[in-house]
Amino acid sequence: MNYTVMMPAAGSGTRMGAGHNKLFLELEGQTILAHTLSVFERDPWCEGIILAVKESERSKIEQIIKRAQITKVKSLPEGGTERQHSVAACLAAHKTRGIVLVHDAARPFIAQHVIHKLADSAYEFGAAVAGVKVKDTMKYVKDGIIEETADRERLWVIQTPQAFRYELLEQASRNAERAGFLGTDEAMLVEHDGKEVRIVESTYDNIKMTTPEDLAYGGYLLKKRLE
Ligand code: CTP
Ligand code: MG
Repeated sequence: MNYTVMMPAAGSGTRMGAGHNKLFLELEGQTILAHTLSVFERDPWCEGIILAVKESERSKIEQIIKRAQITKVKSLPEGGTERQHSVAACLAAHKTRGIVLVHDAARPFIAQHVIHKLADSAYEFGAAVAGVKVKDTMKYVKDGIIEETADRERLWVIQTPQAFRYELLEQASRNAERAGFLGTDEAMLVEHDGKEVRIVESTYDNIKMTTPEDLAYGGYLLKKRLE
Protein backbone atom coordinates (compact mmCIF):
# COMPACT_ATOMS: atom_id res chain seq x y z
CA MET A 1 0.00 0.00 0.00
CA ASN A 2 1.37 3.41 -0.97
CA TYR A 3 1.87 5.97 1.79
CA THR A 4 3.16 9.44 2.69
CA VAL A 5 5.77 9.71 5.42
CA MET A 6 5.57 12.45 8.07
CA MET A 7 9.07 12.99 9.42
CA PRO A 8 9.74 15.10 12.52
CA ALA A 9 13.24 16.65 12.24
CA ALA A 10 12.78 19.73 14.43
CA GLY A 11 14.40 18.48 17.65
CA SER A 12 17.47 19.83 19.43
CA GLY A 13 19.44 16.64 20.03
CA THR A 14 20.11 17.54 23.68
CA ARG A 15 21.07 14.00 24.72
CA MET A 16 23.56 13.70 21.85
CA GLY A 17 25.32 16.77 23.18
CA ALA A 18 26.70 17.86 19.80
CA GLY A 19 25.75 21.49 20.41
CA HIS A 20 23.41 21.45 17.40
CA ASN A 21 20.65 19.29 15.90
CA LYS A 22 22.08 15.73 15.91
CA LEU A 23 20.53 15.09 12.47
CA PHE A 24 23.38 17.14 10.96
CA LEU A 25 26.02 14.73 12.29
CA GLU A 26 27.62 12.62 9.58
CA LEU A 27 27.91 8.85 9.27
CA GLU A 28 30.10 7.59 6.42
CA GLY A 29 30.17 11.05 4.82
CA GLN A 30 26.43 11.76 4.88
CA THR A 31 24.21 13.41 7.48
CA ILE A 32 21.88 11.23 9.56
CA LEU A 33 19.00 13.22 8.02
CA ALA A 34 20.14 12.39 4.46
CA HIS A 35 20.46 8.69 5.32
CA THR A 36 16.90 8.54 6.68
CA LEU A 37 15.44 10.54 3.77
CA SER A 38 17.23 8.23 1.29
CA VAL A 39 15.44 5.14 2.67
CA PHE A 40 12.10 6.68 1.67
CA GLU A 41 13.43 8.19 -1.58
CA ARG A 42 14.34 4.62 -2.63
CA ASP A 43 11.07 3.01 -1.51
CA PRO A 44 8.68 2.80 -4.49
CA TRP A 45 5.68 2.72 -2.13
CA CYS A 46 6.56 6.14 -0.68
CA GLU A 47 4.61 8.88 -2.48
CA GLY A 48 5.92 11.85 -0.56
CA ILE A 49 7.83 13.11 2.46
CA ILE A 50 6.56 15.86 4.79
CA LEU A 51 9.46 17.09 6.91
CA ALA A 52 8.94 19.19 10.06
CA VAL A 53 11.87 21.57 10.53
CA LYS A 54 13.01 24.39 12.78
CA GLU A 55 12.66 27.74 11.03
CA SER A 56 16.31 28.57 11.81
CA GLU A 57 17.47 25.31 10.12
CA ARG A 58 15.26 25.49 7.03
CA SER A 59 17.90 26.61 4.54
CA LYS A 60 20.49 24.13 5.83
CA ILE A 61 17.95 21.30 5.50
CA GLU A 62 16.99 22.43 1.98
CA GLN A 63 20.68 22.18 1.06
CA ILE A 64 20.92 18.66 2.51
CA ILE A 65 17.84 17.60 0.51
CA LYS A 66 19.35 19.00 -2.70
CA ARG A 67 22.79 17.51 -2.15
CA ALA A 68 21.38 14.04 -1.40
CA GLN A 69 19.14 14.28 -4.51
CA ILE A 70 15.95 13.73 -2.55
CA THR A 71 13.00 14.48 -4.84
CA LYS A 72 10.04 13.34 -2.76
CA VAL A 73 9.89 16.13 -0.13
CA LYS A 74 6.51 17.80 -0.67
CA SER A 75 6.61 20.36 2.14
CA LEU A 76 8.64 21.52 5.11
CA PRO A 77 6.23 22.74 7.81
CA GLU A 78 7.61 24.45 10.88
CA GLY A 79 7.92 22.02 13.82
CA GLY A 80 6.84 22.70 17.39
CA THR A 81 8.33 22.65 20.88
CA GLU A 82 7.37 18.99 21.41
CA ARG A 83 7.72 16.14 18.92
CA GLN A 84 3.93 15.69 18.99
CA HIS A 85 3.51 19.30 17.80
CA SER A 86 5.96 18.71 14.97
CA VAL A 87 3.94 15.68 13.83
CA ALA A 88 0.70 17.73 14.10
CA ALA A 89 2.32 20.35 11.83
CA CYS A 90 3.04 17.62 9.25
CA LEU A 91 -0.55 16.37 9.40
CA ALA A 92 -1.87 19.91 8.88
CA ALA A 93 0.48 20.40 5.91
CA HIS A 94 -0.70 17.30 4.04
CA LYS A 95 -4.31 16.18 4.13
CA THR A 96 -4.99 12.85 2.44
CA ARG A 97 -7.46 9.98 2.32
CA GLY A 98 -4.56 7.54 2.32
CA ILE A 99 -2.04 5.98 4.67
CA VAL A 100 0.55 8.00 6.57
CA LEU A 101 3.67 6.76 8.31
CA VAL A 102 5.27 8.80 11.09
CA HIS A 103 9.02 8.15 11.21
CA ASP A 104 11.75 9.78 13.31
CA ALA A 105 14.39 11.45 11.16
CA ALA A 106 16.84 10.06 13.73
CA ARG A 107 16.19 6.39 12.71
CA PRO A 108 18.15 5.78 9.49
CA PHE A 109 18.24 1.97 9.70
CA ILE A 110 14.60 1.06 9.15
CA ALA A 111 14.17 -1.98 6.87
CA GLN A 112 11.95 -1.72 3.80
CA HIS A 113 10.11 -4.98 4.55
CA VAL A 114 9.02 -3.53 7.92
CA ILE A 115 7.82 -0.30 6.28
CA HIS A 116 5.75 -2.32 3.80
CA LYS A 117 4.21 -4.54 6.50
CA LEU A 118 3.27 -1.42 8.48
CA ALA A 119 1.64 0.33 5.51
CA ASP A 120 -0.38 -2.79 4.63
CA SER A 121 -1.38 -3.34 8.24
CA ALA A 122 -2.54 0.29 8.67
CA TYR A 123 -4.58 -0.02 5.47
CA GLU A 124 -6.27 -3.17 6.77
CA PHE A 125 -6.67 -2.34 10.48
CA GLY A 126 -6.25 1.44 10.86
CA ALA A 127 -3.13 1.65 13.02
CA ALA A 128 0.14 -0.32 13.31
CA VAL A 129 3.49 0.42 14.93
CA ALA A 130 6.96 -1.11 14.70
CA GLY A 131 8.33 -2.86 17.76
CA VAL A 132 10.68 -5.55 19.01
CA LYS A 133 10.37 -7.98 21.89
CA VAL A 134 12.13 -6.96 25.10
CA LYS A 135 15.38 -8.92 25.56
CA ASP A 136 16.12 -8.17 29.21
CA THR A 137 14.26 -8.92 32.40
CA MET A 138 12.16 -5.88 33.31
CA LYS A 139 11.18 -4.82 36.82
CA TYR A 140 9.16 -2.02 38.39
CA VAL A 141 11.30 -0.16 40.94
CA LYS A 142 10.28 2.44 43.52
CA ASP A 143 12.72 4.27 45.79
CA GLY A 144 15.50 1.81 44.87
CA ILE A 145 13.48 -1.29 45.79
CA ILE A 146 12.00 -3.79 43.32
CA GLU A 147 8.23 -3.77 43.48
CA GLU A 148 7.47 -6.37 40.85
CA THR A 149 8.94 -8.30 37.90
CA ALA A 150 7.08 -7.54 34.66
CA ASP A 151 5.79 -10.34 32.44
CA ARG A 152 8.38 -10.15 29.64
CA GLU A 153 6.21 -12.11 27.19
CA ARG A 154 3.87 -9.12 26.98
CA LEU A 155 6.51 -6.37 26.76
CA TRP A 156 7.65 -4.77 23.49
CA VAL A 157 10.01 -1.89 22.78
CA ILE A 158 8.20 0.51 20.47
CA GLN A 159 9.92 2.23 17.55
CA THR A 160 8.89 4.23 14.52
CA PRO A 161 7.53 3.98 11.82
CA GLN A 162 4.02 4.18 13.18
CA ALA A 163 1.42 3.83 10.42
CA PHE A 164 -2.18 5.03 10.31
CA ARG A 165 -5.13 5.79 8.14
CA TYR A 166 -4.72 9.56 7.95
CA GLU A 167 -8.14 10.50 9.35
CA LEU A 168 -7.67 8.22 12.38
CA LEU A 169 -4.36 9.84 13.37
CA GLU A 170 -5.53 13.34 12.51
CA GLN A 171 -8.56 12.94 14.77
CA ALA A 172 -6.48 11.45 17.61
CA SER A 173 -3.99 14.31 17.25
CA ARG A 174 -6.79 16.92 17.42
CA ASN A 175 -8.40 15.22 20.44
CA ALA A 176 -5.06 15.10 22.26
CA GLU A 177 -4.48 18.77 21.54
CA ARG A 178 -7.93 19.67 22.89
CA ALA A 179 -7.44 17.54 26.04
CA GLY A 180 -3.89 18.81 26.64
CA PHE A 181 -2.72 15.18 26.40
CA LEU A 182 0.94 14.73 25.52
CA GLY A 183 2.04 11.30 24.29
CA THR A 184 5.56 10.04 23.70
CA ASP A 185 4.45 8.41 20.46
CA GLU A 186 1.53 8.57 18.02
CA ALA A 187 0.13 5.19 19.13
CA MET A 188 -0.53 6.70 22.59
CA LEU A 189 -2.81 9.31 21.04
CA VAL A 190 -4.75 6.65 19.15
CA GLU A 191 -4.91 4.41 22.26
CA HIS A 192 -6.18 7.46 24.17
CA ASP A 193 -9.03 7.58 21.61
CA GLY A 194 -9.91 3.97 22.49
CA LYS A 195 -8.73 2.54 19.15
CA GLU A 196 -6.77 -0.65 18.56
CA VAL A 197 -3.14 -0.44 17.46
CA ARG A 198 -1.35 -3.46 15.95
CA ILE A 199 2.32 -4.35 16.41
CA VAL A 200 4.52 -5.22 13.44
CA GLU A 201 7.71 -7.01 14.43
CA SER A 202 10.69 -4.88 13.44
CA THR A 203 14.46 -5.36 13.69
CA TYR A 204 16.76 -4.60 16.66
CA ASP A 205 19.02 -2.45 14.49
CA ASN A 206 16.27 0.16 13.89
CA ILE A 207 17.86 2.29 16.60
CA LYS A 208 17.20 5.97 17.22
CA MET A 209 20.39 7.99 17.19
CA THR A 210 20.01 9.46 20.65
CA THR A 211 23.29 9.43 22.63
CA PRO A 212 26.96 9.50 21.45
CA GLU A 213 27.43 5.71 21.70
CA ASP A 214 24.69 5.28 19.08
CA LEU A 215 27.00 6.97 16.55
CA ALA A 216 29.63 4.23 16.87
CA TYR A 217 27.04 1.48 16.45
CA GLY A 218 25.36 3.39 13.60
CA GLY A 219 28.69 3.71 11.79
CA TYR A 220 29.25 -0.03 12.17
CA LEU A 221 25.77 -0.82 10.77
CA LEU A 222 26.33 1.40 7.74
CA LYS A 223 29.74 -0.10 6.96
CA LYS A 224 28.27 -3.59 7.17
CA ARG A 225 25.51 -2.63 4.73
CA LEU A 226 27.93 -1.09 2.25
CA GLU A 227 30.16 -4.20 2.24
N1 CTP B 1 11.59 16.17 17.02
C1 CTP B 1 10.84 17.17 16.41
N2 CTP B 1 10.33 18.20 17.17
C2 CTP B 1 10.57 18.28 18.49
C3 CTP B 1 11.34 17.26 19.12
C4 CTP B 1 11.83 16.20 18.36
O1 CTP B 1 10.60 17.11 15.21
N3 CTP B 1 10.10 19.33 19.17
C5 CTP B 1 12.13 15.06 16.20
C6 CTP B 1 13.65 14.91 16.27
O2 CTP B 1 14.28 15.78 15.35
C7 CTP B 1 13.87 13.43 15.98
C8 CTP B 1 12.57 12.78 16.45
O3 CTP B 1 11.63 13.82 16.68
O4 CTP B 1 14.02 13.18 14.59
C9 CTP B 1 12.80 11.94 17.70
O5 CTP B 1 13.11 12.76 18.80
P1 CTP B 1 14.41 12.65 19.71
O6 CTP B 1 15.18 11.44 19.37
O7 CTP B 1 13.98 12.88 21.13
O8 CTP B 1 15.29 13.89 19.18
P2 CTP B 1 15.59 15.26 19.89
O9 CTP B 1 14.36 15.76 20.57
O10 CTP B 1 16.24 16.12 18.88
O11 CTP B 1 16.69 14.83 20.99
P3 CTP B 1 16.69 15.15 22.56
O12 CTP B 1 15.37 14.64 23.11
O13 CTP B 1 17.87 14.42 23.09
O14 CTP B 1 16.80 16.65 22.68
MG1 MG C 1 13.43 14.65 22.20
